[in-house]
Amino acid sequence: MVQAGVGVAIAASGSAAPIAALTNDQLSTIVETSDEWIQTRTGIRSRRLAQSEDTLSSLAAAAGTAAIAAAGLSADDIDLILLATSTPDDLFGSAVQVQAQIGATRAVAFDLTAACSGFVFGLVTAAQFVRTGTYRRVLLIGADVLSRWVDWSDRGTCILFGDGAGAVVLQATDGRDRLLGFELRSDGQLNHTLKLAFQGTPQPLTAGVTATAGRYQPIIMNGREVYRFAVAKVPEVISKALFRADLATSDIDWLLLHQANQRILDAVADRLGVPREQTLSNLADYGNTSAASIPLALDAAVRRGQVQPGDKIVAAGFGAGLTWGAAVFEWGVVET
Ligand code: ACO
Repeated sequence: MVQAGVGVAIAASGSAAPIAALTNDQLSTIVETSDEWIQTRTGIRSRRLAQSEDTLSSLAAAAGTAAIAAAGLSADDIDLILLATSTPDDLFGSAVQVQAQIGATRAVAFDLTAACSGFVFGLVTAAQFVRTGTYRRVLLIGADVLSRWVDWSDRGTCILFGDGAGAVVLQATDGRDRLLGFELRSDGQLNHTLKLAFQGTPQPLTAGVTATAGRYQPIIMNGREVYRFAVAKVPEVISKALFRADLATSDIDWLLLHQANQRILDAVADRLGVPREQTLSNLADYGNTSAASIPLALDAAVRRGQVQPGDKIVAAGFGAGLTWGAAVFEWGVVET
């Protein structure tokens, strides 16, 4: 039964990352680069890499379990699991594997693909199910293991990416809606600037009929173009989401951007007039973890006590597609 008028709270978080780390110095034994170049151009010092025992679904399940515990719930309470990922263990979807691993037997589970925007797109999607009264408790996970798809001989991309998972629990409230505003965008004309694409060749089957045989190719990216795109478009989409929330930049406690490059984070903060100390960043230790980066940085800030219930956060994701989007929300369950 659909109940209109239900509000949504973004109530609790959790995260998980592989233990194995790869430092810039170690990377410079693989490709021609240096710790100094990588730190100056990106802000990254190290990144975590999934080993063979760290599957996408095991990382996502660990993050999800932590978020459910932080919400004071059990896996049985979850109605929907939404897994934002571009690197599933199984192309048919990994959300169901997560469902089985965490024991959320009642939950329906499916994947959502929007690359580095996946968490923000997922947050908005999850909120719609809650607002309509269809589901009351949603586990949203952003998780990626891009290290599986990196060309380790391409210094323009292999220095950037790391692996991880982050999760939040969204809950229905009878009171105020804590998702205050959002704006999502896509532009397939720019698809060529960042791809992890299937490439195949025709395989004759019978007279006049072929199938296509091939495989996904490693990540290719035009870094400069993506950089320019991010610095131009992210402030714009954040301003639009704030406008929809009827808030000014000065009302925001935290700017939580997709962790792609510290220079992008700083440039976007400067354009919006947000002081650096209100910009959350975990780039130095994790690199770009794609759909995981926003909830991973959020969870660390929550666990440090930096982000407090009631704080207003603007989160923005951007990446392959190209896709980009922003969501303004109030953190935690605060009854007023
Ligand atoms: N070490 C040393 N030198 C390097 C390296 C490296 N790792 N990588 C590139 N260089 C060299 C280049 O060859 C070039 O040399 P040249 O001038 O002799 O030709 C020089 O450094 C400058 O190269 P640029 O590509 O202009 O370097 P830039 O300052 O743009 O930094 C970077 C590159 C870090 C990739 C940057 O462009 C960037 O962060 N772009 C955005 C990426 C991004 O945000 N992606 C987001 C989405 S990810 C997703 O959706 C999955």
